[in-house]
Amino acid sequence: MHPDARGYYGPYGGRFVPELLMPPLLELEKAARDIVPTEEFRKEFGDILRDFVGRPTPLYRCPTLSRELGFNLWLKREDLAHTGAHKINNTLGQALLAKHMGKTRLIAETGAGQHGVATATAAAMTGLSCTVYMGAVDVRRQAHNVRRMELLGAKVVAVENGTRTLKDAINVALRAWIAELEDTHYCVGSVVGPHPFPWLVREFQQVIGLEAREEFMTRNMGRLPNALVACVGGGSNAMGLFHAFVPDEGVRIIGVEASGSGEEGCYHSATLTKGTAGVFQGALTLLLQSEQGQIEPSHSIAPGLDYPGVGPEHAGLQALGRAEYACVNDAAAMRAFKKLCRTEGIIPALESSHALAWVLDNADQFPAGGDVVINLSGRGDKDLGIVEEVLQAEEEGK
Ligand SMILES: Cc1ncc(COP(=O)(O)O)c(C=O)c1O
Repeated sequence: MHPDARGYYGPYGGRFVPELLMPPLLELEKAARDIVPTEEFRKEFGDILRDFVGRPTPLYRCPTLSRELGFNLWLKREDLAHTGAHKINNTLGQALLAKHMGKTRLIAETGAGQHGVATATAAAMTGLSCTVYMGAVDVRRQAHNVRRMELLGAKVVAVENGTRTLKDAINVALRAWIAELEDTHYCVGSVVGPHPFPWLVREFQQVIGLEAREEFMTRNMGRLPNALVACVGGGSNAMGLFHAFVPDEGVRIIGVEASGSGEEGCYHSATLTKGTAGVFQGALTLLLQSEQGQIEPSHSIAPGLDYPGVGPEHAGLQALGRAEYACVNDAAAMRAFKKLCRTEGIIPALESSHALAWVLDNADQFPAGGDVVINLSGRGDKDLGIVEEVLQAEEEGK
Protein backbone atom coordinates (compact mmCIF):
# COMPACT_ATOMS: atom_id res chain seq x y z
CA MET A 1 0.00 0.00 0.00
CA HIS A 2 1.34 3.47 -0.79
CA PRO A 3 0.47 6.57 1.19
CA ASP A 4 -1.30 9.41 -0.63
CA ALA A 5 0.26 12.86 -0.85
CA ARG A 6 -0.86 13.65 2.71
CA GLY A 7 0.50 10.40 4.10
CA TYR A 8 -2.79 8.49 4.40
CA TYR A 9 -3.23 4.72 3.98
CA GLY A 10 -6.96 4.68 3.23
CA PRO A 11 -8.60 6.29 6.26
CA TYR A 12 -5.48 6.19 8.49
CA GLY A 13 -2.20 8.09 8.70
CA GLY A 14 -1.53 11.77 8.14
CA ARG A 15 0.43 14.29 10.12
CA PHE A 16 -1.04 15.53 13.42
CA VAL A 17 1.75 17.57 14.99
CA PRO A 18 2.39 21.01 16.47
CA GLU A 19 3.11 23.75 13.88
CA LEU A 20 6.79 23.73 14.87
CA LEU A 21 7.25 20.16 13.65
CA MET A 22 5.81 20.71 10.17
CA PRO A 23 9.00 22.19 8.61
CA PRO A 24 11.33 19.33 9.73
CA LEU A 25 8.78 16.71 8.63
CA LEU A 26 8.46 18.35 5.19
CA GLU A 27 12.26 18.64 4.98
CA LEU A 28 12.60 14.94 5.85
CA GLU A 29 9.96 13.90 3.31
CA LYS A 30 11.64 15.89 0.54
CA ALA A 31 15.09 14.54 1.41
CA ALA A 32 13.76 10.98 1.53
CA ARG A 33 12.08 11.34 -1.90
CA ASP A 34 15.18 12.96 -3.43
CA ILE A 35 17.90 10.83 -1.83
CA VAL A 36 16.63 7.32 -0.97
CA PRO A 37 15.78 6.24 -4.56
CA THR A 38 19.14 7.38 -6.03
CA GLU A 39 21.58 4.75 -7.21
CA GLU A 40 24.29 6.17 -4.95
CA PHE A 41 22.16 5.85 -1.79
CA ARG A 42 20.86 2.39 -2.72
CA LYS A 43 24.38 1.12 -3.30
CA GLU A 44 25.72 2.61 -0.07
CA PHE A 45 22.79 1.21 1.95
CA GLY A 46 22.94 -2.16 0.15
CA ASP A 47 26.67 -2.51 0.84
CA ILE A 48 26.17 -1.75 4.55
CA LEU A 49 23.29 -4.22 4.80
CA ARG A 50 25.49 -6.90 3.23
CA ASP A 51 28.82 -6.24 4.95
CA PHE A 52 27.82 -4.80 8.33
CA VAL A 53 24.38 -6.32 9.02
CA GLY A 54 25.09 -9.67 7.36
CA ARG A 55 22.24 -9.64 4.83
CA PRO A 56 20.62 -11.47 3.22
CA THR A 57 19.45 -13.26 6.35
CA PRO A 58 18.62 -16.94 5.74
CA LEU A 59 15.14 -18.26 4.99
CA TYR A 60 15.24 -21.42 7.10
CA ARG A 61 12.92 -24.41 6.81
CA CYS A 62 12.42 -25.89 10.28
CA PRO A 63 12.87 -29.65 9.83
CA THR A 64 11.28 -30.95 13.04
CA LEU A 65 8.31 -28.59 13.26
CA SER A 66 7.58 -29.01 9.54
CA ARG A 67 7.40 -32.78 10.06
CA GLU A 68 5.15 -32.37 13.13
CA LEU A 69 2.82 -29.84 11.49
CA GLY A 70 2.54 -31.50 8.07
CA PHE A 71 3.39 -28.28 6.20
CA ASN A 72 6.65 -26.43 5.66
CA LEU A 73 7.42 -23.90 8.37
CA TRP A 74 9.92 -21.32 7.20
CA LEU A 75 11.64 -18.72 9.40
CA LYS A 76 13.03 -15.47 8.00
CA ARG A 77 16.04 -15.22 10.30
CA GLU A 78 16.20 -11.54 11.34
CA ASP A 79 17.60 -12.87 14.64
CA LEU A 80 20.83 -13.44 12.69
CA ALA A 81 21.14 -9.77 11.67
CA HIS A 82 23.81 -7.72 13.48
CA THR A 83 22.64 -6.68 16.98
CA GLY A 84 20.11 -9.53 16.95
CA ALA A 85 16.92 -8.06 15.49
CA HIS A 86 15.36 -6.41 12.44
CA LYS A 87 15.57 -2.94 14.06
CA ILE A 88 19.08 -2.41 12.65
CA ASN A 89 17.85 -2.22 9.00
CA ASN A 90 15.81 0.88 9.75
CA THR A 91 18.28 2.70 12.01
CA LEU A 92 21.10 2.33 9.49
CA GLY A 93 18.85 3.60 6.70
CA GLN A 94 17.82 6.64 8.74
CA ALA A 95 21.39 7.33 9.95
CA LEU A 96 22.63 7.29 6.37
CA LEU A 97 19.81 9.59 5.24
CA ALA A 98 20.50 11.95 8.16
CA LYS A 99 24.13 12.16 7.11
CA HIS A 100 23.14 12.99 3.53
CA MET A 101 20.90 15.73 4.96
CA GLY A 102 23.91 17.24 6.75
CA LYS A 103 22.73 16.29 10.26
CA THR A 104 25.35 15.46 12.87
CA ARG A 105 23.26 13.93 15.61
CA LEU A 106 20.60 11.25 16.12
CA ILE A 107 18.09 11.17 18.92
CA ALA A 108 15.83 8.25 19.67
CA GLU A 109 13.63 6.94 22.42
CA THR A 110 13.47 3.35 23.51
CA GLY A 111 11.41 1.23 25.86
CA ALA A 112 12.92 -2.25 26.00
CA GLY A 113 16.20 -0.93 24.64
CA GLN A 114 16.39 -2.80 21.30
CA HIS A 115 15.76 0.28 19.18
CA GLY A 116 18.16 2.28 21.38
CA VAL A 117 20.93 -0.26 20.83
CA ALA A 118 20.22 -0.33 17.07
CA THR A 119 20.29 3.50 16.90
CA ALA A 120 23.50 3.72 18.95
CA THR A 121 25.05 1.12 16.62
CA ALA A 122 23.98 3.01 13.49
CA ALA A 123 25.27 6.30 14.92
CA ALA A 124 28.66 4.80 15.80
CA MET A 125 28.90 3.16 12.38
CA THR A 126 28.10 6.36 10.47
CA GLY A 127 30.00 8.78 12.73
CA LEU A 128 26.97 10.62 14.18
CA SER A 129 26.56 11.50 17.84
CA CYS A 130 23.59 9.91 19.59
CA THR A 131 21.29 10.59 22.52
CA VAL A 132 18.72 8.01 23.61
CA TYR A 133 15.81 8.94 25.88
CA MET A 134 14.54 6.20 28.12
CA GLY A 135 12.06 6.18 31.02
CA ALA A 136 13.89 5.87 34.35
CA VAL A 137 11.93 2.69 35.12
CA ASP A 138 13.08 1.14 31.83
CA VAL A 139 16.68 2.25 32.50
CA ARG A 140 16.60 0.10 35.64
CA ARG A 141 14.78 -2.83 33.99
CA GLN A 142 17.05 -2.87 30.94
CA ALA A 143 20.43 -2.13 32.53
CA HIS A 144 22.21 -4.49 30.14
CA ASN A 145 20.98 -2.62 27.04
CA VAL A 146 21.82 0.74 28.67
CA ARG A 147 25.39 -0.49 29.09
CA ARG A 148 25.50 -1.61 25.44
CA MET A 149 24.32 1.84 24.26
CA GLU A 150 26.93 3.56 26.40
CA LEU A 151 29.70 1.29 25.10
CA LEU A 152 28.62 2.26 21.59
CA GLY A 153 29.13 5.92 22.52
CA ALA A 154 25.50 6.99 23.02
CA LYS A 155 24.33 9.22 25.83
CA VAL A 156 21.37 7.66 27.64
CA VAL A 157 19.03 10.15 29.31
CA ALA A 158 16.80 8.72 32.05
CA VAL A 159 13.38 10.42 31.90
CA GLU A 160 11.87 11.01 35.33
CA ASN A 161 8.46 12.39 34.20
CA GLY A 162 5.07 10.69 34.45
CA THR A 163 5.15 6.91 34.69
CA ARG A 164 8.85 7.06 33.70
CA THR A 165 8.33 4.67 30.78
CA LEU A 166 8.26 4.81 26.96
CA LYS A 167 5.48 7.34 26.36
CA ASP A 168 7.15 9.84 28.74
CA ALA A 169 10.50 9.26 26.99
CA ILE A 170 8.79 10.03 23.65
CA ASN A 171 7.46 13.36 24.94
CA VAL A 172 10.89 14.43 26.19
CA ALA A 173 12.61 13.27 22.98
CA LEU A 174 10.12 15.30 20.90
CA ARG A 175 10.83 18.43 22.95
CA ALA A 176 14.58 17.84 22.53
CA TRP A 177 14.10 17.49 18.75
CA ILE A 178 12.18 20.77 18.53
CA ALA A 179 15.00 22.51 20.45
CA GLU A 180 17.72 21.25 18.09
CA LEU A 181 16.10 20.77 14.71
CA GLU A 182 18.98 22.23 12.75
CA ASP A 183 21.56 19.48 13.31
CA THR A 184 19.45 16.63 14.69
CA HIS A 185 17.46 13.77 13.14
CA TYR A 186 14.81 11.96 15.20
CA CYS A 187 15.27 8.27 14.44
CA VAL A 188 11.79 6.73 14.83
CA GLY A 189 11.87 3.00 15.63
CA SER A 190 8.75 1.57 13.95
CA VAL A 191 6.21 2.28 11.19
CA VAL A 192 4.47 4.77 13.47
CA GLY A 193 4.27 8.52 13.97
CA PRO A 194 3.46 11.32 11.53
CA HIS A 195 4.07 11.05 7.78
CA PRO A 196 6.72 10.43 6.40
CA PHE A 197 7.97 8.12 9.22
CA PRO A 198 5.64 5.12 8.62
CA TRP A 199 6.55 5.16 4.93
CA LEU A 200 10.27 5.82 5.49
CA VAL A 201 10.69 3.05 8.08
CA ARG A 202 8.87 0.60 5.80
CA GLU A 203 11.12 1.61 2.89
CA PHE A 204 14.11 0.54 4.97
CA GLN A 205 12.48 -2.64 6.31
CA GLN A 206 11.01 -3.89 3.02
CA VAL A 207 14.34 -5.65 2.36
CA ILE A 208 13.03 -8.46 4.62
CA GLY A 209 10.12 -9.32 2.31
CA LEU A 210 12.05 -8.71 -0.89
CA GLU A 211 14.71 -11.21 0.19
CA ALA A 212 12.16 -13.73 1.50
CA ARG A 213 10.08 -13.58 -1.69
CA GLU A 214 13.08 -14.02 -3.99
CA GLU A 215 14.66 -16.82 -1.99
CA PHE A 216 11.37 -18.66 -1.52
CA MET A 217 10.61 -18.58 -5.26
CA THR A 218 14.14 -19.62 -6.22
CA ARG A 219 14.00 -22.63 -3.91
CA ASN A 220 10.43 -23.60 -4.83
CA MET A 221 10.29 -23.38 -8.63
CA GLY A 222 8.61 -19.98 -8.74
CA ARG A 223 5.87 -20.86 -6.26
CA LEU A 224 4.76 -18.46 -3.50
CA PRO A 225 4.05 -19.42 0.14
CA ASN A 226 0.46 -19.93 1.36
CA ALA A 227 0.85 -17.47 4.22
CA LEU A 228 3.07 -14.93 5.96
CA VAL A 229 2.89 -14.44 9.72
CA ALA A 230 4.62 -11.77 11.83
CA CYS A 231 4.20 -10.19 15.25
CA VAL A 232 2.95 -6.61 15.47
CA GLY A 233 4.07 -4.05 18.05
CA GLY A 234 4.34 -0.79 16.16
CA GLY A 235 4.42 -3.02 13.11
CA SER A 236 7.82 -2.61 11.43
CA ASN A 237 9.01 -6.22 11.18
CA ALA A 238 5.55 -7.21 9.94
CA MET A 239 5.38 -4.43 7.30
CA GLY A 240 8.95 -5.31 6.32
CA LEU A 241 7.92 -8.89 5.51
CA PHE A 242 4.45 -8.14 4.13
CA HIS A 243 5.16 -5.26 1.76
CA ALA A 244 6.66 -7.22 -1.15
CA PHE A 245 3.75 -9.72 -1.05
CA VAL A 246 0.80 -7.31 -0.80
CA PRO A 247 0.05 -7.54 -4.57
CA ASP A 248 0.12 -11.39 -4.38
CA GLU A 249 -3.57 -11.90 -3.62
CA GLY A 250 -3.13 -15.66 -3.08
CA VAL A 251 -0.75 -15.17 -0.15
CA ARG A 252 -2.51 -14.83 3.22
CA ILE A 253 -1.05 -12.08 5.40
CA ILE A 254 -1.48 -12.41 9.16
CA GLY A 255 -0.25 -10.02 11.86
CA VAL A 256 -0.20 -11.23 15.47
CA GLU A 257 -0.61 -8.91 18.44
CA ALA A 258 -0.29 -9.53 22.16
CA SER A 259 -3.38 -10.11 24.29
CA GLY A 260 -1.45 -9.99 27.59
CA SER A 261 -2.59 -12.52 30.19
CA GLY A 262 -5.68 -13.08 28.03
CA GLU A 263 -7.99 -12.73 31.03
CA GLU A 264 -11.18 -10.67 30.83
CA GLY A 265 -10.42 -6.99 31.45
CA CYS A 266 -6.62 -7.42 31.53
CA TYR A 267 -4.18 -4.97 30.00
CA HIS A 268 -3.07 -6.06 26.51
CA SER A 269 -1.54 -4.65 23.32
CA ALA A 270 -4.11 -5.87 20.79
CA THR A 271 -4.61 -2.53 19.06
CA LEU A 272 -5.82 -3.79 15.68
CA THR A 273 -8.17 -6.41 17.07
CA LYS A 274 -9.50 -4.44 20.05
CA GLY A 275 -8.56 -0.77 19.55
CA THR A 276 -10.51 2.20 18.21
CA ALA A 277 -9.60 5.05 15.85
CA GLY A 278 -7.96 8.18 17.19
CA VAL A 279 -4.87 10.36 16.96
CA PHE A 280 -1.77 8.99 18.65
CA GLN A 281 1.80 10.22 18.38
CA GLY A 282 1.18 12.25 15.26
CA ALA A 283 -1.00 9.90 13.20
CA LEU A 284 -4.66 8.91 12.90
CA THR A 285 -4.58 5.21 13.67
CA LEU A 286 -6.06 2.52 15.91
CA LEU A 287 -5.15 2.77 19.56
CA LEU A 288 -6.08 1.64 23.03
CA GLN A 289 -8.11 4.41 24.63
CA SER A 290 -10.78 4.90 27.24
CA GLU A 291 -14.26 6.21 26.33
CA GLN A 292 -12.96 9.66 27.29
CA GLY A 293 -10.10 9.32 24.78
CA GLN A 294 -7.32 8.78 27.36
CA ILE A 295 -4.54 6.41 26.27
CA GLU A 296 -4.92 3.14 28.17
CA PRO A 297 -1.89 1.28 29.56
CA SER A 298 -0.82 -1.69 27.45
CA HIS A 299 0.77 -4.95 28.50
CA SER A 300 2.62 -7.89 27.02
CA ILE A 301 5.21 -10.33 28.27
CA ALA A 302 7.16 -9.24 25.16
CA PRO A 303 8.55 -5.73 25.81
CA GLY A 304 8.60 -4.84 22.09
CA LEU A 305 4.86 -5.53 21.69
CA ASP A 306 3.89 -3.50 24.77
CA TYR A 307 2.61 -0.43 22.90
CA PRO A 308 -0.91 1.11 22.84
CA GLY A 309 -0.79 2.21 19.17
CA VAL A 310 0.02 0.67 15.78
CA GLY A 311 1.36 1.88 12.45
CA PRO A 312 -1.37 3.41 10.23
CA GLU A 313 -0.53 1.19 7.24
CA HIS A 314 -1.58 -1.89 9.24
CA ALA A 315 -4.87 -0.21 10.12
CA GLY A 316 -5.25 0.58 6.40
CA LEU A 317 -4.50 -3.02 5.31
CA GLN A 318 -7.01 -4.32 7.85
CA ALA A 319 -9.68 -1.87 6.62
CA LEU A 320 -9.02 -3.04 3.04
CA GLY A 321 -9.30 -6.69 4.07
CA ARG A 322 -5.86 -7.45 2.59
CA ALA A 323 -4.31 -8.44 5.94
CA GLU A 324 -5.81 -10.26 8.91
CA TYR A 325 -4.88 -9.62 12.53
CA ALA A 326 -5.14 -11.96 15.48
CA CYS A 327 -3.87 -12.02 19.04
CA VAL A 328 -2.02 -14.46 21.26
CA ASN A 329 -1.59 -14.41 25.04
CA ASP A 330 1.55 -14.49 27.20
CA ALA A 331 1.23 -18.19 28.08
CA ALA A 332 0.87 -19.31 24.44
CA ALA A 333 3.89 -17.18 23.48
CA MET A 334 5.93 -18.82 26.26
CA ARG A 335 4.90 -22.30 25.06
CA ALA A 336 5.97 -21.43 21.51
CA PHE A 337 9.24 -19.95 22.83
CA LYS A 338 10.09 -23.21 24.63
CA LYS A 339 9.00 -25.32 21.66
CA LEU A 340 11.33 -23.54 19.21
CA CYS A 341 14.24 -23.77 21.67
CA ARG A 342 13.80 -27.51 22.16
CA THR A 343 12.77 -28.65 18.69
CA GLU A 344 14.93 -26.47 16.44
CA GLY A 345 17.79 -25.14 18.60
CA ILE A 346 16.73 -21.50 18.15
CA ILE A 347 16.01 -19.15 21.07
CA PRO A 348 13.49 -16.65 19.65
CA ALA A 349 12.57 -13.19 20.92
CA LEU A 350 9.34 -13.24 22.95
CA GLU A 351 7.86 -10.88 20.34
CA SER A 352 8.43 -13.36 17.51
CA SER A 353 7.18 -16.20 19.76
CA HIS A 354 3.71 -14.64 19.45
CA ALA A 355 3.76 -15.20 15.67
CA LEU A 356 4.93 -18.79 16.10
CA ALA A 357 2.29 -19.44 18.78
CA TRP A 358 -0.47 -18.35 16.43
CA VAL A 359 0.74 -20.75 13.73
CA LEU A 360 1.08 -23.67 16.18
CA ASP A 361 -2.44 -23.04 17.54
CA ASN A 362 -4.00 -22.61 14.09
CA ALA A 363 -2.12 -25.28 12.18
CA ASP A 364 -5.39 -26.75 10.81
CA GLN A 365 -5.84 -23.60 8.69
CA PHE A 366 -2.95 -24.60 6.40
CA PRO A 367 -2.94 -27.28 3.71
CA ALA A 368 -0.79 -30.40 4.09
CA GLY A 369 2.46 -29.85 2.23
CA GLY A 370 1.86 -26.07 2.13
CA ASP A 371 4.25 -23.30 3.16
CA VAL A 372 4.06 -20.74 5.96
CA VAL A 373 6.73 -18.06 6.42
CA ILE A 374 7.17 -16.54 9.90
CA ASN A 375 9.31 -13.48 10.46
CA LEU A 376 11.66 -14.36 13.32
CA SER A 377 12.16 -10.71 14.19
CA GLY A 378 14.86 -11.15 16.81
CA ARG A 379 16.75 -13.46 19.11
CA GLY A 380 15.69 -14.18 22.66
CA ASP A 381 18.88 -13.45 24.59
CA LYS A 382 17.43 -10.07 25.62
CA ASP A 383 14.42 -11.83 27.17
CA LEU A 384 16.19 -14.35 29.38
CA GLY A 385 15.47 -12.35 32.56
CA ILE A 386 11.71 -12.40 31.84
CA VAL A 387 11.78 -16.08 30.84
CA GLU A 388 13.69 -17.00 34.03
CA GLU A 389 11.01 -15.30 36.16
CA VAL A 390 8.20 -17.18 34.38
CA LEU A 391 9.97 -20.53 34.64
CA GLN A 392 10.68 -19.99 38.33
CA ALA A 393 7.04 -19.08 38.99
CA GLU A 394 5.95 -22.23 37.10
CA GLU A 395 8.31 -24.35 39.19
CA GLU A 396 6.95 -22.86 42.39
CA GLY A 397 3.45 -23.64 41.09
CA LYS A 398 2.26 -20.03 41.15
C1 LIG B 1 12.64 -8.56 18.35
C2 LIG B 1 11.51 -7.59 18.20
N1 LIG B 1 10.44 -7.96 17.47
C3 LIG B 1 9.39 -7.14 17.30
C4 LIG B 1 9.35 -5.89 17.90
C5 LIG B 1 8.13 -5.05 17.72
O1 LIG B 1 8.32 -3.93 16.92
P1 LIG B 1 7.76 -3.86 15.43
O2 LIG B 1 6.31 -4.24 15.52
O3 LIG B 1 8.00 -2.47 15.03
O4 LIG B 1 8.52 -4.85 14.61
C6 LIG B 1 10.45 -5.44 18.67
C7 LIG B 1 10.47 -4.11 19.30
O5 LIG B 1 11.32 -3.78 20.12
C8 LIG B 1 11.56 -6.32 18.82
O6 LIG B 1 12.64 -5.98 19.56
